[in-house]
Amino acid sequence: MNHPEIILFLARADNGVIGDGDSIPWRLPEDQRRFKRMTMGKPMIMGRKTFDSLPGLLPGRRHIVLTRDKKWQADDAEVATSIKNALKIANAPHIAVIGGAEIYKAFLKQADRIELTEVHLKPKGDTKMPAFDDAIWEEIAREDHDAENGKPGYSFVTLKRK
Ligand SMILES: NC(=O)c1ccc[n+]([C@@H]2O[C@H](COP(=O)([O-])OP(=O)(O)OC[C@H]3O[C@@H](n4cnc5c(N)ncnc54)[C@H](OP(=O)(O)O)[C@@H]3O)[C@@H](O)[C@H]2O)c1
Repeated sequence: MNHPEIILFLARADNGVIGDGDSIPWRLPEDQRRFKRMTMGKPMIMGRKTFDSLPGLLPGRRHIVLTRDKKWQADDAEVATSIKNALKIANAPHIAVIGGAEIYKAFLKQADRIELTEVHLKPKGDTKMPAFDDAIWEEIAREDHDAENGKPGYSFVTLKRK
């Protein structure tokens, strides 16, 4: 098989925060819908902590969970023990990497595209991602949305490796 397209999906606040404890410190239903639409049918690779933080299995997508714990298992999750092993298990032309920070950092060098939701907030949070280097990443699409009805402003941004 040709090299699969590796796509990172993440939502990041203006101060770099992507999570706090086992949750994400905002709620953006539009982002959840876009995430669902764009990941549907693709195998998803995630860290064990992100898997544990999901409210349940996400329908229509395989859950490939990275852990170093050889005994770890969960119903309907496929277990991967290394980055290479996760990609081998995924075995698909388009692979969604859905977090968290440890996993994004581990896949960043190999990623082809980033579907980034910029969340225009500066929340408190213990999990952060640095900004993406514009010497490496080219912005090829942007859709800005103003704050409304108590929801923060946000931007859907597609970054492609130069
Ligand atoms: N804003 C967003 O888009 C977004 C998306 C996803 C998650 N999040 C947030 O991010 C936070 C979780 O991120 P996190 O960085 O703490 O954890 P994480 O990346 O979800 O999971 C880390 C775990 O993955 C496993 N792991 C990491 N590298 C590995 C490797 N090379 N080989 C095998 N296993 C490996 C280890 O599991 P074991 O400990 O089991 O060995 C490690 O503890 C939460 O707050 C969550 O809500 C935000």
